Amino acid sequence: MPSPPSSIVIRRPDDWHLHLRDGAMLGAVLPFTARVFGRAIVMPNLVPPVTTAAGARAYRARIEAACPPGSGFRPLMTCYLTDRTDADEVARGFGDGAWVAAKYYPANATTHSESGVSDVRHILSVLARMEKIGMPLLVHGEVTDANVDVFDREAVFLDRVLGPLVRDFPGLKVVFEHATTEDAVAFVRAHAPGVGATLTPHHLMINRNAMFEGGIRPHLYCLPVAKREKHRQALRRAAVSGEACFFLGTDSAPHPRAAKESDCGCAGIFNAPAAIEAYAQVFAEEGALAKLEAFASLNGPAFYGLPANEERIKLAQAETRIPNTVPAPGDTLRPFLAGETLGWRIEA
Ligand code: NCD
Ligand code: ZN
Repeated sequence: MPSPPSSIVIRRPDDWHLHLRDGAMLGAVLPFTARVFGRAIVMPNLVPPVTTAAGARAYRARIEAACPPGSGFRPLMTCYLTDRTDADEVARGFGDGAWVAAKYYPANATTHSESGVSDVRHILSVLARMEKIGMPLLVHGEVTDANVDVFDREAVFLDRVLGPLVRDFPGLKVVFEHATTEDAVAFVRAHAPGVGATLTPHHLMINRNAMFEGGIRPHLYCLPVAKREKHRQALRRAAVSGEACFFLGTDSAPHPRAAKESDCGCAGIFNAPAAIEAYAQVFAEEGALAKLEAFASLNGPAFYGLPANEERIKLAQAETRIPNTVPAPGDTLRPFLAGETLGWRIEA
């Protein structure tokens, strides 16, 4: 087998699914993303959530103010859908650039989704309008039915909710966020190019065993939860396939350590400190570094109808050590792969 290249140059990547939080936490985590990514789709699950165009504009201004000088990072804002979302407000905000997409959280499916959609029937008029104006719907694809096993909630969502939805709205652009199963990969392939999916570094690197290795590992708990090894393998094959429907979205979701290491630890993995290095490692392991640029820098913008970034970054085979902790307001953050070493590094 030919040995992999020791460095590659790719267009500057974007992160098509990111949690930046707000206030002091925003200031603590944004530099990690702005260091490498040109743009990011910023999730709207603040408390309270971003439901108005004015709220999205104000949040974007706070992110821009928190950006390290000269980074050139551009946040792309999203609208948080609720049972009461007004189609006109969604369309107005899309038309004047306040936001580029809307996020559908099934109510209580994940962190800060309490105000989400309790039944998809409540947002049918919004979806019809989004289909008409070409505005992407970003989906957290898990049912919340307590009778459904937590590891099956994604597959059941595809059957019960998303399948019927794409039949009823065949022109609606949909991003199935943070896909974690072979079922989701197959669904997305079957419905491409109107449906795409983001894939996270952690779901490409760990399976559900990792959460219980030697004890309970709260920092590897996120939603959708990591699945069996066969699913991780399916996600890896999708990521490195180069297919236009699969693109980079870290779902980096910082929570203070005390909130993770708790009687009821919250969901979310903070992977921003070494996200592109982690993806590079996965692609190198799969012998597919030549496909990294499509996944990280080309497929996402093409799906959203945006130009790819013009700048390039260089990744070289060299060690990146992930810090044990990252400072955060009043606490610390424990990053994904804390204390470990990856084989790829960004070179100036
Ligand atoms: C996210 C968060 O913390 O905001 N958590 C997570 O486990 N991924 C919410 C989400 O994307 O589900
Ligand atoms: Zn998320």
